Amino acid sequence: MSEEYQKYPMVTADQLRGRRERPRRVKMLTRDFIEDSLYNPSYGYFSKQVVIFTPGEPFDFNKLEDEPEFHRLLGQRYTEFEDKLDLIAPNETRQLWHTPTELFRPYYGEAIARYLVENYKLSQYPYHDLIIYEMGAGNGTLMLNILDYIRDAEPSVYDRTKFKIIEISSNLAKLQANQLLRTADSRGHSSKVEIINKSIFEWNQVVSSPCFFLAMEVFDNFAHDAIRYDPVTEEPLQGTVLIDNAGDFYEFFLPTIDPVAARFLRVRHAATGGHYPTPLPQSRLLRKLSARMPFTPNLSDPEYIPTRLMQFFDILGKYFPAHRLLTSDFHDLPDTIRGINAPVVQTRYQRRTVPVTTPYVHQGYFDILFPTDFNVTELIYRAITGKLTRVLTHEEFLRRWAYVEETETKNGENPLLSWYKNASVLTTV
Ligand SMILES: C[S@@+](CC[C@H](N)C(=O)[O-])C[C@H]1O[C@@H](n2cnc3c(N)ncnc32)[C@H](O)[C@@H]1O
Repeated sequence: MSEEYQKYPMVTADQLRGRRERPRRVKMLTRDFIEDSLYNPSYGYFSKQVVIFTPGEPFDFNKLEDEPEFHRLLGQRYTEFEDKLDLIAPNETRQLWHTPTELFRPYYGEAIARYLVENYKLSQYPYHDLIIYEMGAGNGTLMLNILDYIRDAEPSVYDRTKFKIIEISSNLAKLQANQLLRTADSRGHSSKVEIINKSIFEWNQVVSSPCFFLAMEVFDNFAHDAIRYDPVTEEPLQGTVLIDNAGDFYEFFLPTIDPVAARFLRVRHAATGGHYPTPLPQSRLLRKLSARMPFTPNLSDPEYIPTRLMQFFDILGKYFPAHRLLTSDFHDLPDTIRGINAPVVQTRYQRRTVPVTTPYVHQGYFDILFPTDFNVTELIYRAITGKLTRVLTHEEFLRRWAYVEETETKNGENPLLSWYKNASVLTTV
C-alpha cells in the first residue's frame, strides 16, 4: 500500500469531527484514529448508545450474606436493567458497562465527598468557595451523591459549593441534566450545578480560584499514540493507519515523530530519569542478538503512549493553576492486545463482551480502553503542573475515606474494598 500511503492525505480527528461517514482513502496517526473512533460526534463510540449501568436502589450490603450473593444480585439487576431497555428499544449491540460510582452508590460518592470537604476545610475554608469540576460525569451519579452528602452532613459548606461538569458526550450531558431534575430532592441542587457540554481539550478559560478536579475512569479512554522501536538503533517510529477505498486498515510505522508524541517522549524521559517500561529488550547484547535472529520482526512490540493524557495535564496546568486533582483509573486490565501499556479493544454483542486484537476495527463499535501506568503518570503530572501527588490503591483510598461498615456483608466481606483491585487513585497533595 506504499503508493496509496504517499497519495492519501493525512487527516486528524479534529478535521473529521464534522463528517457523518467514516473516512476512506486517508491516513492518520494512531491517536487520531482512536480519538475519532471513540468521540466522533456522528459515529463515535461515546456518541452512540453507550449505557452506563445503574443498580436502581442502592445495594443493602449489610443484609447480604457474602460477596457471591452480591455478585448474583448484581447479575440479576443487570439483566433486569437490560430487559427494561429492550422493551423500549431492542438492541443487540448496546454497549453497557458499570463503574464503582454506580455499583457502590451512594457510598463511593460519599467517600469522595468526605475527602473533598475535609481537604477544603484544611486548606481553603473560609476564604474560598468549594468549587468542584468533574470531567466525564457519566450518568451524573457521583455529582448527586457528593452534593447530597455535603447538603446533609455539612450544610455550611453546601451553601458555598459549586459543581461544574465538563462532558464531551451530548447524550450523557443531557442525561446528567435530566438526573438533576428527576426528583424534588435533586432539583434542589440545580442552582449549584453547571453542565458544560464540551471536551476538556477545547477548554480555554482560566479558572484562577482554588478548585477540586475529579476525573473518574476518564483517562482510560484518552487516545494514545503507538510507538515501535528499531531494536538496533533504538530509534522510535510512530504508528499511522491508512484506510483504503474499501474501508480496510493498514498500519505503518515511520521514523518521523510528530511534535506531540516527541514532546511526550522528552517529558517522560526527563520526568522519570529514563526509568519506564519499554518494549526493547533491557540488555544491549540481547537487543543486538534479537535483531540478527532470522524470522524475528524488524521492529519491537508496540508501546502505547498517553499523549492525550499529557495534553490534559497541560490544560490543568495552564487553565486550572490552583486545582487539586482526584482521579481514579485502572492500573491493569485483563485481555489487552499485544504491547506495552496496550489497550483492551472490545464490543458487546447480544449481551456478551467480545474482545479483539487490534484497535483498527470498525469505528464506533468498539470501546478502546487503556491501563494507566500510575508510576510514570504521577511523575509526568508533577513535571507539567509543578504539584505534588500521592497514589493509593482503590482499597487504600476507600479505607481512609469510606464508612466501610456500610458496605460490609454479613460474613465480614466488603465488596467496596475487595472489588476493583486493579484500580488506583491519584490525588494532588
Ligand atoms: C467511563 S465513563 C466514566 C463515567 C463516570 N465518571 C463514572 O465513573 O461513572 C467516561 C466519561 O468521560 C467522558 N469523557 C471522555 N473523554 C472526555 C473529554 N475529553 N472531555 C470530557 N469528558 C470526556 C465520557 O463521555 C464519559 O462520561
